[in-house]
Amino acid sequence: MSEEEIAKLPGVGPAILEKLKEAGYNDIMMIAVDSPKNLAELAEVGESTAAKLIAAAKKAADVGGFETGDVLLERRKTIAKLGSGSKSLDELMGGGFESRAITEFFGEFGSGKTQLCHQLAVNCTRPFEEGGLEGHTMIIDTEQTFRPERIVQMSEALDLDPDEILKKIHVARAFNSHHQTLLVDKATELAKDYPVRMLVVDSLTAHFRAEYIGRGALAERQQMLNKHMHDLLRFGDLNNAVIAVTNQVAAKPDAFFGDPTRPIGGHIVGHTATFRIYLRKSKGGKRIARLIDSPNLPEAEAVFQVSEAGISE
Ligand code: GTP
Ligand code: MG
Repeated sequence: MSEEEIAKLPGVGPAILEKLKEAGYNDIMMIAVDSPKNLAELAEVGESTAAKLIAAAKKAADVGGFETGDVLLERRKTIAKLGSGSKSLDELMGGGFESRAITEFFGEFGSGKTQLCHQLAVNCTRPFEEGGLEGHTMIIDTEQTFRPERIVQMSEALDLDPDEILKKIHVARAFNSHHQTLLVDKATELAKDYPVRMLVVDSLTAHFRAEYIGRGALAERQQMLNKHMHDLLRFGDLNNAVIAVTNQVAAKPDAFFGDPTRPIGGHIVGHTATFRIYLRKSKGGKRIARLIDSPNLPEAEAVFQVSEAGISE
């Protein structure tokens, strides 16, 4: 359907259609909202061709304009909320983790970022009445810390059939930051075949941090991260999906940011993530989550538990 729409755009012949498809453009809106430079690069067309394609897509797609608050409030009602397994953590998030938004978990090693991602992937498969989204999850695993065994444990703790749950969690290993960004396109493609309602990037920043070293590389790193985050947001929008990303805080003072409690990725990650949650360890498997940045919720804290059964109150 949407590919047919692309094919109908003036200036789109079979060759260009193929290039667009290969570059992951399967929706007219994806073209309409892109920049000529980016489209030219991804689809391997000239920049002026790209500009013409974007103009045509804008005309065809109804990219909208200004809307009144009541209409926006109505649209907000389509936003889904995913439960975490901890009531106080869900309350901190205003009822759960929102779709069409990026939630960033940051904290030092062992603070529970990866555990939360596993639990959210399990919960995502559950019925709406039980805080789920009745959907699949895509996980971009950059540190090879995804453990199917944990999914089995968490599923069993909820009386769910682990085999069924595992089939709804798609995991890809990202070998470097470039590969990581490409996997978002791959996920977009797969989302045509499965009802994907969550995308996880764990860790968002580790590859970038390892590859772009020194002050001279900072600008480029931030630029790449910025684009990556906008691709993630776009995925969330297209699929009404929850986007969860993790970010370590530097254990040693970071060369760029000095302060050891500052998340990596600086302003770019901070400004693009819709919700930022700072996680820290407490006694006896307890974790403290602090919501530090949200467009509509107060800054506050919640305590939850990490155990073999997963995330709980
Ligand atoms: P980095 O990726 O290293 O930055 O850390 P992270 O924040 O992703 O940590 P992660 O979520 O992997 O948390 C690991 C911690 O979770 C462990 O140190 C344990 O405290 C806890 N944990 C993980 N699995 C289990 C389990 O099966 N049982 C219990 N009781 N705790 C677990
Ligand atoms: Mg981790």
